[in-house]
Amino acid sequence: MTGRPGFESAAADLPAARSFPWPADGLLYGGDYNPEQWPEEVWAEDLRLMTEAGVNTVSLGIFAWGLLEVDQDRFEFGWLDRVLDGLHGAGIAAALATPTAGPPTWLLRRYPEVLTVDAHGRRNGPGARLGWCPSSAVFRDRATKIIEALAGRYGDHPALGLWHVSNEIGNENARCYCDESERAFQGWLERRYGSVEKLNQAWGTAFWGHHFREFAEVPLPRAISGHHNPGLVLDFHRFSSDELLEHYRFERDLLRGLTPDVPITTNFMVKPTMAPVDYAAWAQEVDLVANDHYTTAADPDRHWSLAMSADQARGVGRGRPWLLMEHSTSAVNWQPRNRAKEPGELLRDSLTHIARGADGAMFFQWRQSTAGAEQFHSAMVPHAGTDSKVWREVTRLGEHLGALAELRGSTVEPASVAILTDYASQWALTSWGKPTVELDPLDLPTTLHRLCTRRHRQVDVIGPDADLAGYRVIIVPMLYLAYDTLAERLTAAAEAGAHVLITYFSGITDQAGRVITGGYPGAYRELLGVRSEELHPLLAGETRRLDNGWSVSSWTEHVHLTGATAIAEYADGPLAGTPALTRRAVGAGSATYLATRPADDHLQVLVDELLTLAGAAPVAEAEDDLQVVRRRIGDQGYLFVINHADAARTVTSSGLDLLTGQPHIGTISVPAGGVVVIKETNV
Ligand code: GLA
Repeated sequence: MTGRPGFESAAADLPAARSFPWPADGLLYGGDYNPEQWPEEVWAEDLRLMTEAGVNTVSLGIFAWGLLEVDQDRFEFGWLDRVLDGLHGAGIAAALATPTAGPPTWLLRRYPEVLTVDAHGRRNGPGARLGWCPSSAVFRDRATKIIEALAGRYGDHPALGLWHVSNEIGNENARCYCDESERAFQGWLERRYGSVEKLNQAWGTAFWGHHFREFAEVPLPRAISGHHNPGLVLDFHRFSSDELLEHYRFERDLLRGLTPDVPITTNFMVKPTMAPVDYAAWAQEVDLVANDHYTTAADPDRHWSLAMSADQARGVGRGRPWLLMEHSTSAVNWQPRNRAKEPGELLRDSLTHIARGADGAMFFQWRQSTAGAEQFHSAMVPHAGTDSKVWREVTRLGEHLGALAELRGSTVEPASVAILTDYASQWALTSWGKPTVELDPLDLPTTLHRLCTRRHRQVDVIGPDADLAGYRVIIVPMLYLAYDTLAERLTAAAEAGAHVLITYFSGITDQAGRVITGGYPGAYRELLGVRSEELHPLLAGETRRLDNGWSVSSWTEHVHLTGATAIAEYADGPLAGTPALTRRAVGAGSATYLATRPADDHLQVLVDELLTLAGAAPVAEAEDDLQVVRRRIGDQGYLFVINHADAARTVTSSGLDLLTGQPHIGTISVPAGGVVVIKETNV
């Protein structure tokens, strides 16, 4: 048993999913290394401490462009030669960055036209990072020069393990509204629609008389007094994601031509919040999915959110092992209040990513900066030095990852639950003019992920085009757009025994944003056996009761049964006596429609009922508060158990705890805040 057949075969089909020499034995461990911020005397200590901590990989040169190309076409590589030689001598691999995330000041002064323009027409100034327009031909030209110089110099360096293209592309340059972007957008639309008539039809430009006679008339959705056509807004998001991806591809293809054997990646920002780009599409273009994740200090559910981010990172890569390229050892410095991590939180966070499929854990950054915008952001070597909680946990994590080296090559075992999400649906749902401002596309996916995960079920977070075979429960949570063949594939999955849960405001419009008529939810009426005639969002603070005692808020709608039966009806309000929760038997499975937003406790009741109905087995028998995940190589299981509670909790498993070397049989007590990784016997 090595994984879900569909999941794996999908990965094998990916053109870029080639096998490559892994940069180090076992799991990767390290962080962003910025030696240019320090005098050379410190570099020797860096290497000594990296060795002490078990570091085997560092991301290097991410923001070093201005120190490598000190003036146009004048390169100074001497210092980086010495850094790379030193790393090689210490047996540490470099994920060497193309430094395009940090264009030099001279470049931005000489070519200000590369800088992005905001929706109000204001050009960004020099001073931060990224900030360039992905459609800029001048920027591409300058990027070509530095990349050719870098690859020419280091392509054969023995320390080079991986190319790290730019950094979080789209973070500070997600959307550009300059004239060059507008022309690129028009070209993108022409390629997508073929004729301007088709575009007019798709967006419904007859509304407000927006009809375009030629692509050259289509504007970017700049700031205006009023509201743009939602189809235009959605396509601008898609275009921006594609344009940024095009920049990544340009760097990747340049590197591949120069150094065909070196694997290439770029660090994503996959997390359960809105993303500027479509990472499911991007994941098909990298040799290795690399992700950055930071917890939100003020969020009491941050460990659940982290678990979902890790499941998403695995999901965009269709189950392939991935790399946690950045997280933090303790506080960040960009939230309103930057709480230090509790003792043990670093280890729990890192090992949660590893449990959920990461083959390495790296940090931003190696040594805490004394100057610059991130001087109060934690690092592996803190301002306080090595006599510190952070350093002790950093070295402990290094030992743990060393003890887990044999996990390299294993994968997370097949999940029983799938949650379907898609970036385009999120963008479409958040454009102006929907029935209520409470339609948060992230609410139901994250809540339902947590409610399944806390019941110890393994969840895959996948796109609407993923293979659905084998899942016991498939959840479609407020997936606003309709997708070709998805209704048919959900129906086939239900007929084969899956239990499908579709929530309100899913399948409402086609891919261009036009509503599917005849009753909501247009795409899934037949599968669900319901027809909803009118949407009844609730006012702020308003609630309704259902006849099963549940309390609901935010959303109701007027549903008619056309084949389904009502499981619960509204007990009060104008829709009293009409269905709020329905189910239709479909083959060996079923299709459930949730037409309202129950309180979380009541949603948990629905989740529990569905998991039982579907026979979705827990990963292991475990007490509440434990997160439980199994990775496997062949028949060998590795059970990760992470205790977020402030008291010990028990799980049932037998085998050797790889972190302590202690054998266990039967009931295992996981200490408060602790982690065990059991190399299982008899499973
Ligand atoms: C991102 C960036 C890093 C750093 C961290 C801080 O992940 O990639 O350069 O700014 O955030 O949390």
